[in-house]
Amino acid sequence: MDKFAIQGGVPLAGAVQVSGAKNSALPALAACLLTGEPVILHRIPRVRDIRTMQKLIESCGASTKAIGGAVRVQTAEIVSPEAPYDLVKTMRASSLVLGPLAARCGRARVSLPGGCAIGARPIDLHLAGLEHLGARIRQEHGYVEAEAPNGLQGGFIHFDRITVTGTEDLMMAAVLAEGETVLENAAREPEVADLAELLTRMGARIEGAGTSTIRIRGVKRLHGAEHTIIPDRIEAGTFLIAGAITGGELLVKGCVPEHLGALIVKMRQAGVDVAQESESSLRVRRTGRLTAVDATTEEHPGFATDLQAQYMALMTQAEGISFITETIFENRFMHVLELVRMGASIRTEGRQAIVAGPRELTGAGVIASDLRASASLVLAALVARGETVIDRVYHIDRGYEKIEQKLGKVGARIRRAA
Ligand code: EPZ
Repeated sequence: MDKFAIQGGVPLAGAVQVSGAKNSALPALAACLLTGEPVILHRIPRVRDIRTMQKLIESCGASTKAIGGAVRVQTAEIVSPEAPYDLVKTMRASSLVLGPLAARCGRARVSLPGGCAIGARPIDLHLAGLEHLGARIRQEHGYVEAEAPNGLQGGFIHFDRITVTGTEDLMMAAVLAEGETVLENAAREPEVADLAELLTRMGARIEGAGTSTIRIRGVKRLHGAEHTIIPDRIEAGTFLIAGAITGGELLVKGCVPEHLGALIVKMRQAGVDVAQESESSLRVRRTGRLTAVDATTEEHPGFATDLQAQYMALMTQAEGISFITETIFENRFMHVLELVRMGASIRTEGRQAIVAGPRELTGAGVIASDLRASASLVLAALVARGETVIDRVYHIDRGYEKIEQKLGKVGARIRRAA
């Protein structure tokens, strides 16, 4: 099981390149099940979750081929409309094949995701939506089956809770349904709009993606397309915080500054200099003291839950008390006790973490528990005095492409050890 050994205390300096967004590439790969023609996707990040999704769609009948930095996917026919437990248990986003399979072949059998470190992760809203489109839903033996032998019918869906992959799943189900579908209280994440862009290139008719009401008019079939995945805003945000927490200066290249508004505002309030250098790059610099600033996670365009753990690491170095409230997931403070072991002063009360700073962090042996918690530990290690060894870094490999190379290139003393 791989570990990272990190010697802290080096202010990072230089430029880092952002990869394609994992959470956009995942639904995009699932969307390839919707057509028998080839789809070419550029800027697919080489991370574990993507390899898992590729295995999953291949098990359904897709053939995938790497062409340079792109992936060519063709699903001539669906041979097995199923997402088996052994794949789903490692990646909840496997539920993204539900909609495409039900739409393409009228049947889908997907293992229920079960929980994961950050919460229960139910898919009840995905299933309720499919029922509204005429699918018959059955659950047994830990699997859910969706059947629509005569195809899906357009319908009106109101999401009780905003769900990112729920919105994506149902958008993909609706593109081949008979008639019009309205998704109300839909997720507004940039990854939803990116998926709609791909589906539109494939011949779908979608309006309002990126807003809370999305209208889809079903078509008979979709055709092949070529599409470039948007940059990963969470990776970009993680690097902005890396530059700030180490007191260095980083140019974060190949990102979309508009996707990071909530984080940039908080960092500027905290005393970090964040400047937009071009339409696709941000420069972060921190030389002075940091001030504690509260943050509450919300659906996009609010403060991203996927940046909460990383922001908390930064707040351990800020002067004052910051209240960090997690409203999206019920158990997303797994990084707290590990940060405390490194010297942070953090207390949690339900969904709120109270951080008192600044506190000097010292290197320690810590354990990663989930993707973004591990990113938080890397950030803390970069500023800690001495060496930190982070165990179970397979969590970080799920969503960050070559993170040790990217950080090493800008001065971090980080190495992977078995
Ligand atoms: C997506 O997960 C992201 N994953 C997550 O990123 C991200 O944290 C999350 O959205 C919130 O932004 C991908 O896009 C692959 P949700 P998703 O459905 O879609 C509840 C990362 O670090 N809910 O928006 O699974 C749910 O329990 C990952 O890259 C239901 O109750 O999240 C949660 O409390 C982690 N029933 C809330 O809604 C449902 O049917 C939001 O979940 C669906 C969701």
